[in-house]
Amino acid sequence: MTSIRLFTAVCALVLGMGSIPIAWAASETKDVPTTELYRKYCATCHGLKGEGNTTLGNSMTPPPRRFNDPAGMMDLTQERILASIRDGRPGTAMPAWGNTLSTPQIEALSDYIRERLMPSAIGADHSLGQQIFAKNCSVCHGDRGDTAVWAQSGLTPPPRNFTTDLARKELTRERIIFSISYGRAETAMPAWNERFTKEEIEAVSDYIRTAFMFPDGHPATPEEAAKTGHSARHEPVPPHFDPKIMREPMPGNRIGDVAWGNHFFQLNCATCHGKDGDGQGPRAAFINPKPRNFRHSASQHKMNRPHLFEVISNGTPRSEMPAWKTVLTEQEIANIAEFVFVTFIQPGFAAELTTTPGQTAPHAPTATPEPAQ
Ligand code: HEC
Ligand code: HEC
Ligand code: HEC
Repeated sequence: MTSIRLFTAVCALVLGMGSIPIAWAASETKDVPTTELYRKYCATCHGLKGEGNTTLGNSMTPPPRRFNDPAGMMDLTQERILASIRDGRPGTAMPAWGNTLSTPQIEALSDYIRERLMPSAIGADHSLGQQIFAKNCSVCHGDRGDTAVWAQSGLTPPPRNFTTDLARKELTRERIIFSISYGRAETAMPAWNERFTKEEIEAVSDYIRTAFMFPDGHPATPEEAAKTGHSARHEPVPPHFDPKIMREPMPGNRIGDVAWGNHFFQLNCATCHGKDGDGQGPRAAFINPKPRNFRHSASQHKMNRPHLFEVISNGTPRSEMPAWKTVLTEQEIANIAEFVFVTFIQPGFAAELTTTPGQTAPHAPTATPEPAQ
């Protein structure tokens, strides 16, 4: 079903939209301004204002991201945006741009999305962050984020004044979220993670940033960004394929038993990830986000043994990927991780680390009931 719709969408793209560069060939994009790049390559699906409500986009499942929808953008870190533009989104109509656009262009597009398309929406929907702040934080931090008068001398150290240059320099979004979640030891700043969800903490963080720290909009130039510590630019794109990282061994140097892992995978994972690891298992059509396609370059550049071990153990938040450590031993998880790694991710590395006979206790795996999330 999904693939038929996707196919139709791609046909519409090929037949109807003569002006879109269909082959996405690396071409004369070198000196084109970012606005033009966006208009030319992205707006057909995502809309000129990032509203995602285009004729072409509406025919797609899943639809293109709406960049101006703050709720929808919460899970999009800068790193993820960069990786998605470069490598595309497997199993969706989102193409990989890594061959068409240069790294600086991809970074510029990411900034364009974050600074030009997202803030308008963030600005429009302060309500949640604003309410939380007014009810819980302003008593110490003041209505304007510049520290309540009583607290300036009443608390030692006093609450942070968010409107200063020092605050702009020190308080990255990540640090703000961390401090709100866990509090600040030996100060009056409480931990809020039991009171608020992750989304609520992010909402109040963004409110602090947009209302108090950067009331005139996010700093735009690299110089300003450097001065204020705003991290939107100059963060390196996640590395391209790095053989050294990809060869890292399993935690504790465990050696996985590939045959055991294969058997278990086919019984328990293939229903979502597909027997060939392509993310097209029978259940995949009903799941969002979609199970990962292990054969996509985004997976092949990133999912080394430690990563696989970690995500198979703990699952991934807000998705249907289960945490298998509740039902499997570490050795069993290593077996499955090794199978996924040498079969789908890096078949070329298979010969380097072969299973030593006798190292594992290969008892026949069985279909295990799925663990609770
Ligand atoms: C042919 C249609 C199409 C074009 C052209 C397109 N996109 Fe997308 N894009 C999509 C779809 C569909 C999704 C949703 C994928 C998903 O839900 O995983 C998406 C998702 C995204 C995301 C979010 C990815 C994530 O991790 O969830 C970003 C960022 C993005 N696109 C940026 C761009 C940029 C930048 C361009 C231009 C260089 C572009 N897109 C061009 C269809 C398109
Ligand atoms: C009882 C008073 C009090 C309340 C209520 C309070 N804070 Fe604070 N907050 C403080 C103090 C004191 C500091 C300074 C801590 C320090 O110097 O390390 C602080 C620091 C901070 C910082 C900066 C932390 C850092 O990493 O330097 C942030 C962000 C912050 N508060 C957010 C909030 C938010 C959001 C709320 C409401 C959900 C809140 N605070 C409620 C007293 C308070
Ligand atoms: C009920 C469906 C389902 C089952 C069963 C399932 N997965 Fe997944 N898996 C998912 C989904 C959905 C995602 C994508 C999560 C996301 O995009 O955040 C995923 C993601 C992953 C990832 C990539 C995570 C990342 O962020 O890098 C790995 C690796 C993985 N699964 C391995 C497995 C293995 C091995 C098994 C069997 C032991 C398994 N999965 C069983 C649904 C499933």
